[in-house]
Amino acid sequence: MPKFIKTNLQIIALIVILLPGCGQEPSQTTKQANDNNALNPLDAEITVYKSPSCGCCAEWVTYLQEEGFTVSSIDHDNVDDIKTRFGIPDPELYSCHTAIVDGYIIEGHVPANDITRLLTEAPTDIKGLTAPGMPMKSPGMASRIPKDYAVLSFSESGETSVYSQY
Ligand code: CU
Ligand code: CU
Repeated sequence: MPKFIKTNLQIIALIVILLPGCGQEPSQTTKQANDNNALNPLDAEITVYKSPSCGCCAEWVTYLQEEGFTVSSIDHDNVDDIKTRFGIPDPELYSCHTAIVDGYIIEGHVPANDITRLLTEAPTDIKGLTAPGMPMKSPGMASRIPKDYAVLSFSESGETSVYSQY
């Protein structure tokens, strides 16, 4: 039955051709996973400057740690000094604490997903993010789920735009 044998040979040939391709796939997957890890925002360390008496600041630090970030917290008696030192362009943008991550400023009760997005997109025209004042329904304040406030991005010169609306 030559036709049967020929068909079998074709199948074997096909398997031989496909096998090396299958063998390469896992190594490509591994490489991709490594690249993603190198860019993982959770690998970035966040330094938070806060007043030693600020309860909601400590709550925000705990929240970020629970979200998987590495956070170091530095107590400072005059946090406005920190804000001018890092160049937050307008006091209207001030909140209770000031954080630095990967060269960006994170001012106030900014949710974790905005920080992740900032680190992932790594924009060059944004100096930082802020949740001005003390939004009541924000992580570290009364609500872990952000509600009823906007997170703004700001540039070096103080131009702002809405980064996230909750
Ligand atoms: Cu606060
Ligand atoms: Cu705070």
